Amino acid sequence: MTPLTQSPAWKALQNHHRDIQGLHLRDLFAQDPGRGEAMACEAAGLYLDYSKNRATARTLELLMALARERGVAERIAAMFRGDRINVTEDRAVLHVALRAPRTAVIEVDGRDVVPGVHAVLDRMAAFAGGIRSGARKGFTGEAIRAVVNIGIGGSDLGPAMAYEALRAYSARDLQFRFVSNVDATDFTEAVRDLDPRTTLFVISSKTFTTQETMANARSARAWCLEALKDEAAVASHFVAVSTDAARVAAFGIDTANMFGFWDWVGGRYSMDSAIGLSTMIAIGPERYREFLDGFHAMDEHFRTAPFERNLPVLLGMLGVWYADFFGAGTVAVLPYDHYLRRFPAYLQQLTMESNGKSVTLEGARVDYATGPVFWGEPGTNGQHSFYQLIHQGTHLIPCDFIAFANSLNPLGGHHAMLLSNVLAQTEALAFGKTPEAVAAEGTPAWLAPHRTFEGNRPSNVILAPRLTPAVLGSLVALYEHVVFTQGAVWNLNPFDQWGVELGKELSRRILPELESPGEPELSHDSSTNALIRRLRAAAKS
Ligand code: F6P
Repeated sequence: MTPLTQSPAWKALQNHHRDIQGLHLRDLFAQDPGRGEAMACEAAGLYLDYSKNRATARTLELLMALARERGVAERIAAMFRGDRINVTEDRAVLHVALRAPRTAVIEVDGRDVVPGVHAVLDRMAAFAGGIRSGARKGFTGEAIRAVVNIGIGGSDLGPAMAYEALRAYSARDLQFRFVSNVDATDFTEAVRDLDPRTTLFVISSKTFTTQETMANARSARAWCLEALKDEAAVASHFVAVSTDAARVAAFGIDTANMFGFWDWVGGRYSMDSAIGLSTMIAIGPERYREFLDGFHAMDEHFRTAPFERNLPVLLGMLGVWYADFFGAGTVAVLPYDHYLRRFPAYLQQLTMESNGKSVTLEGARVDYATGPVFWGEPGTNGQHSFYQLIHQGTHLIPCDFIAFANSLNPLGGHHAMLLSNVLAQTEALAFGKTPEAVAAEGTPAWLAPHRTFEGNRPSNVILAPRLTPAVLGSLVALYEHVVFTQGAVWNLNPFDQWGVELGKELSRRILPELESPGEPELSHDSSTNALIRRLRAAAKS
C-alpha cells in the first residue's frame, strides 16, 4: 500500500485543509441553515451531532475516501471474521464476540467461540444471582455484603467506570470497591470499614501475573485469613477472572471459582468479558444482558452501516482530521452526567494504550501524528477549571460532549440547568463572541480583546434519552470502534501495548535494590542511582 502521507486521499485532504482552514463555523452555519440537522446521525440509541466541526460536505467526502483507500472496510471484515489482526501477538481480536447473541456464529481457527462465551455468561449469572440473593454465603455462613474487585488497567478501569455509571441500577444493599494501585493505601482504605466475613474478592487479571494485582491479592488473602483463621475460607471469599487457570490454581484459588476468557480479548477491550463480573453482581444478569445488547447494537451498526452514516467511522475520521491536519494533540471528553465521571479515565486506556504508537504494522516509523491525548472531567466541573483554555487558549482542542435528555435523579431544575450548560458550551466554542459584539456592549477598547471569543472551536455532541445499561454498552462500543477506525487509517496495531514493558522490567530490577539489606551495587544513570540512595537513606530514618 502507498505510504499514508503519499496516498492520493491524504494529499487531497492536505490541499483541502489549506482551502478551508480559514473558514469559520459562523460562515459554515450561515451558508447552510439546515447544517445542524444534516450533519447528524443516529444509531444504537445514540444521536451524534457533528455539525460543529470545521468540516464541509467535501471534507467528509475526502475523509471517507481516505477511510476507503486505507482499507477500513476490509479491516472491519477481518476483525469480525476472527483473522489474527493483532499481528505482533499473533492473536485474533474478537471482543465483538463477547456480546454476540447466543445464536451467532463467530469462529477463531475454525471453532465457533460463541457457545463458550455464553457458557461463561451463564456461570457468571448463576454466581451473581447467588451473591445478590444472599444464597451464596461467606465462610462463616453470613451473606456477602461487599465485593472488592482487585485488578489494574483493563481489569479495573472498565469495571470501576461501569459500576459508577450504572450505580442507579445497582443493588444498593451491596458495597463495591475497586483496588488497583500497588500503593498499599488503595487496599487499606478500600477495606478499612469492611468485614472479612462478608467480603468477596474478585481477583481480575487476564495474565494473573501483573505485579500490582498479585500484590493486592496476596494482601487481601492475608487480611481475610487473619480474621477467619482457616485456609479453607479462601474458597468462599475469593474468585478469579483470568485466562490462565494454572496460575489461578497456583495462587490458591480453586478453578471451580474461576471465570475464564480468552487471548482474543485485549485487556482494555475486556469490560464485557468475565472481567465484568462485578458489574453483573451490581446490576444483575438481566441488566447485564441489556448492557451487552447495547454493545452488540453498535457492533452491528459499525459492521454494516455505510461510512457516511457510520458513527464510529465519522467520529474516528474527524479525529484523524484534527490530529493530522490541524495538529490537535488532545481530545477532551466531557460527559454531562455525574455517573460518567470515570468515563474519561476509562477512555484514556482504551484510546491511548491502543493508538499511542509510532511504528506501522510493518515496523516503519510513522511520519504523521497518531493517537491524541484523551482527557476530561464531568460537566459542569470542568467549566470552572480548564474550559478557559479551550475557549481562549492557543491550543485547538476538539471536544466530545456527552449528555442525556433525562436525569436518573430528577431534582428541581438541576437537569435543565445541566443541559443548558452543554448547549451553551458547544455554542460558545463554535461561534464565540466577535469584537463588534463586545464593543456593542460598551466594553472599553482596552478590555475588548480579553472579552472576545474567537470561536471556531470544534465539538461533537452525543445524546441519548437517558443513561441505561444498553446506552453505556453502545457508548463504549462506539469509542472502541473509533479507535479501530483510526488505528486502521494510521496503519497501527491498536491491540498490543509493548510500550508498558520497559518500565515493568526496570522496576523488577530496582525493587531488590530498594529492599536490599546491604549496600547494593547500582549501575543506573547518575539520577536514578542518586534517587535510589536517597530513598534508601530516608526509609531508614
Ligand atoms: O500493563 C498494561 C496491561 O497489560 C494492560 O493492557 C492490562 O489491561 C493491564 O496491564 C492488566 O493486565 P492483567 O489483566 O493481565 O492483569
